[in-house]
Amino acid sequence: MTTSRRAKPPSFSTEEFRNALGMFATGVTIVTARSAEGVLVGLTANSFNSVSLEPPLVLWSLARAAASMAALSTGSHYAINILAANQKQLAERFATKNIDRWADVAFTEGLGGAPVLAGAAASFECFNRSRYDEGDHVIFVGEVERCTHNAGASPLLFHGGRFYTEHPL
Ligand SMILES: Cc1cc2nc3c(=O)[nH]c(=O)nc-3n(C[C@H](O)[C@H](O)[C@H](O)COP(=O)(O)O)c2cc1C
Repeated sequence: MTTSRRAKPPSFSTEEFRNALGMFATGVTIVTARSAEGVLVGLTANSFNSVSLEPPLVLWSLARAAASMAALSTGSHYAINILAANQKQLAERFATKNIDRWADVAFTEGLGGAPVLAGAAASFECFNRSRYDEGDHVIFVGEVERCTHNAGASPLLFHGGRFYTEHPL
């Protein structure tokens, strides 16, 4: 048998791939930063995951085409805000283009100026440690310098293109 050093081209459509990925239920985050020019940036992201306990590392990925790419890739810090179930509107707002995402949003200034959103279930204030170009996204690895959580919060969940909250089995 010959083994190739390259993957076969996909035999499935992008839609099938997207639908299969949608079966992986996730939490929902808003990744935030303050740019070097002082502008607030933030976007909804569910590509968050844990990487390492010691040192404390997390990852998430950002589309190459994202408007916030320049600010997030060059800044020293960003905050990853894990949303609570009652923050669905915020998740939708921070995924919408050509609006003022920050209007009336309550936050405190975190490390490196990154906004830490009020009412989030948890927050991870990250040093922008490394980035890896892969396909149409860039994988960001953040080194967590500070984290907080609200043990009583119900998480916002995302699955198959819809928002949920938890239903313990
Ligand atoms: C639930 C959900 C999860 C998302 N996850 C990601 C993600 O992990 N990475 C990403 O680049 N975009 C993700 N998006 C899309 C961005 O939020 C959206 O494209 C946003 O407009 C990008 O903002 P920007 O172009 O201002 O950077 C997600 C959207 C939703 C609704």
